[in-house]
Amino acid sequence: MPTGIKIENLNFSYSHGKKVLNNVTVEIQPGERFGIIGPSGAGKSTLLLHLNGILSGEGIVQIGETIVNKESIADVRRQVGLVFQNPDDQLFNPTVEEDVAFGPLNFGLNKETVSGRVREALQAMNLTVFEKLTSHHLSLGERKRVALATVLAMRPEVIALDEPFSNLDPAMVMQLMKILKSLDATLVLVSQSILPIVACCDRMAILKEGEIAAIGPPKQLAANVELMRSCDLDLSFYWEICKEIFY
Ligand SMILES: Nc1ncnc2c1ncn2[C@@H]1O[C@H](COP(=O)(O)OP(=O)(O)O)[C@@H](O)[C@H]1O
Ligand SMILES: [Mg+2]
Repeated sequence: MPTGIKIENLNFSYSHGKKVLNNVTVEIQPGERFGIIGPSGAGKSTLLLHLNGILSGEGIVQIGETIVNKESIADVRRQVGLVFQNPDDQLFNPTVEEDVAFGPLNFGLNKETVSGRVREALQAMNLTVFEKLTSHHLSLGERKRVALATVLAMRPEVIALDEPFSNLDPAMVMQLMKILKSLDATLVLVSQSILPIVACCDRMAILKEGEIAAIGPPKQLAANVELMRSCDLDLSFYWEICKEIFY
């Protein structure tokens, strides 16, 4: 069952640094696909790392009924699957199969259930042929898909993905968008790739210098040229390139 997320007045600074998250308040509905866009350094990854308590700032982060804190962290990490931007932070087993089996085995599931989940997750990410290989022999895009498979196999209620579209070829971006649309989980997608976020999210927030600059329907926000430009997100850039190529 997908779970909702509540973030209330969240403030965070890295040690001795400037404020990276400034009073962030956002509520995400169960089953929603929620995108967060913003320029590099806006605080997107920092915000995502609060969802399963890797970072903890001042304010409230709540997954369903559970407030994220030291006591709830084990429970929260079962509910929230985080896919890191760099898959090498996530993959450490000798084979792809073992990497994907690692989480479900840790949950204490029996071998048969685990192998069923591994098969399903690998199929969903189009990775079956790589099952017996070592992940560090795969391309970065392939390793990113393995990282998502490791999270899918745990069947979390919330899946949070950091830059899922980076380093994927266009066909894989399309395939990933289709997969993300089919998942029965609450999704939080953080990305600098604006177009896939606009195309596959139900709602979107723009993060600018640690603050939520706008929240709303993705197409409506993306069409607001002034807003997008003021947040250093200029979609007309794509249009200019297309004009140069095709006209
Ligand atoms: N581990 C860290 N220690 C100190 N500063 C950091 C660390 N990680 C990120 N930052 C800083 O926090 C700000 C937000 O970073 P980040 O959340 O990675 O932004 P984004 O994901 O939007 O590019 C940046 O100014 C970045 O330099
Ligand atoms: Mg980032």
